Amino acid sequence: TGKFTYDPGFTSTASCDSALTYIDGDEGVLLHRGYPIGQLAEHSSFMEVSYLLLNGELPSSDELSQFSRTITRHTMLHEQLMTFYRGFRRDAHPMAVMCGVVGALSAFYHDSTDISDPVQRMIASHRLIAKMPTIAAMAYKYSVGQPFIYPDNSLSYTGNFLRMTFGVPAEPYVVNPVVERALDRIFILHADHEQNASTSTVRLAGSSGANPFACIAAGIACLWGPAHGGANEAALNMLREIGTPDRIPHYIARAKDKNDPFRLMGFGHRVYKNYDPRATVMQQTVREVFASLNVTDPLFETALQLEEIALNDPYFVEKKLFPNVDFYSGIILSAIGFPTAMFTALFALARTVGWVAQWNEMISDPGQKIGRPRQLYTGPAQRDYLPVDKR
Ligand code: CMC
Repeated sequence: TGKFTYDPGFTSTASCDSALTYIDGDEGVLLHRGYPIGQLAEHSSFMEVSYLLLNGELPSSDELSQFSRTITRHTMLHEQLMTFYRGFRRDAHPMAVMCGVVGALSAFYHDSTDISDPVQRMIASHRLIAKMPTIAAMAYKYSVGQPFIYPDNSLSYTGNFLRMTFGVPAEPYVVNPVVERALDRIFILHADHEQNASTSTVRLAGSSGANPFACIAAGIACLWGPAHGGANEAALNMLREIGTPDRIPHYIARAKDKNDPFRLMGFGHRVYKNYDPRATVMQQTVREVFASLNVTDPLFETALQLEEIALNDPYFVEKKLFPNVDFYSGIILSAIGFPTAMFTALFALARTVGWVAQWNEMISDPGQKIGRPRQLYTGPAQRDYLPVDKR
């Protein structure tokens, strides 16, 4: 002891240099390559943000169409993978399926992936970005017993995903542009978030030189947990459990009770000690989607009131707990028609861009080393082995 700094949860350890994403948690600022998330969410597209994260600059219009063509070229899955799905139980959680299928991609692209070659790394990155919507949509189709829908490359990245998820062979699927835009915006909001748990997992797995598809599967596993990506699912389940606004005080009291493990899901963040800028855009998007679909959800009212009560409660004020990106996303996804279990799969789809961009950045860093934290040992001192009859 004494030799190493004890930093559980890595609250004060910078594990890398990175030029991708900047967060000022006290001010509620999030920038990708310098661009504020609010501007990207309003004016940009997920394809453009993907290009920006991977390449460092916003694309020209030629670069954007070239990039989109490259991505669409890779949207299909190897037919053999279709049979892989059939090995899962129909009621498997989509994240379990995603983890398995993305991990299995490593067996399809094993030899071609020379990670020391930047061109090969970019191809692996494009493949992952392109195939995630297909993989996530197929996980959904499998769970509801409907046939897999092949990608249609005449549609946008997000439109194609909507069609693969909600389309059926029996009738044409028409993409609703407002829903397409809202989902694209949700993807932008989830694209990257510097060294969060799943991204750090991808970097750590990748630091040994492992296959990129296997590394992304590790990121998916980490994202699944309710303290991370699983929070969007947990937040909507919580709102459903609370139900009506009159029951909010009871749950606020539970969240404050240190003897009760209950936490307000979609609230609080390791880095943001102010309003999560992504939550602001998310709340506004709920209103747009409701207006365009001509629907409403009483849970939105519950969520708004919960937020207001929490933000005026000394416990949440003192601990600087604010709604995070996941507080409102579930309400939109559910209005679009996604079942709760798919929410984290959509997060994984979008975060894949951040994962591959961070992985590329790490591998191309000349100072890159295998990640190998140390520990403070607390076990017994050296002692001698005793035969079993002497213990
Ligand atoms: N409800 C009630 N109390 C909370 C909450 C909450 N949601 N979040 C934190 N606290 C309290 C916590 O009990 C602790 O109190 P004390 O200091 O008295 O022990 C204090 O606030 C600090 O919390 P912490 O757990 O030490 O903070 P952390 O940085 O380790 O955890 C977090 C951050 C996001 C895991 C946590 O806030 C949480 O569990 N939130 C709910 C889950 C959630 O919404 N996660 C999504 C995060 S955003 C999307 C993503 O990046 O994946």
